[in-house]
Amino acid sequence: MIGTTRKQVLGLLISGLLVSGAYADEAERVSALEADNCFPRGELRGDINNGKALHYEHCVACHGLTGQADVVVMHMDETPPDQSDPEYMQTLSDGYLYIAICRGGEGVGKSYVMSPWGDFFTDQEIKDMVAWVRTFSDT
Ligand code: HEC
Repeated sequence: MIGTTRKQVLGLLISGLLVSGAYADEAERVSALEADNCFPRGELRGDINNGKALHYEHCVACHGLTGQADVVVMHMDETPPDQSDPEYMQTLSDGYLYIAICRGGEGVGKSYVMSPWGDFFTDQEIKDMVAWVRTFSDT
């Protein structure tokens, strides 16, 4: 009887730890939209390698591996501009790229086809992708 009670107490303790652990993770992950309403601040070029991994997973379907939008996976009325073109990319600031990712095309007066990602990514993750997108044009 005592043994069972001990096991139950232990079980409660462990599940308590698991639950609080899950809550801790939730609390750490604050989306960019939530954190600062997609306001770009500080150093806007983050970790290139993480940006590359995120871009590979979420962006290449439309932008292609090298930002040239050389993809035929889906029909887009509005195809993304060539992000490997340095002349074009020089006209866009890091802040603009940040806002375009965070608020989507409509957030910068462009196509809604580029969806807003601010409620999905953290501020840091967007900065990581800004850094990676910059490597396409070396700007
Ligand atoms: C459904 C297709 C699609 C996906 C997925 C997508 N984009 Fe886009 N993106 C577009 C289109 C289309 C535009 C161009 C909008 C325009 O020029 O009107 C664009 C524009 C942009 C721009 C602004 C460039 C400019 O010339 O103004 C950036 C930066 C960008 N995308 C980054 C990303 C990142 C980073 C991801 C992944 C998190 C992503 N995009 C996912 C379609 C997409």
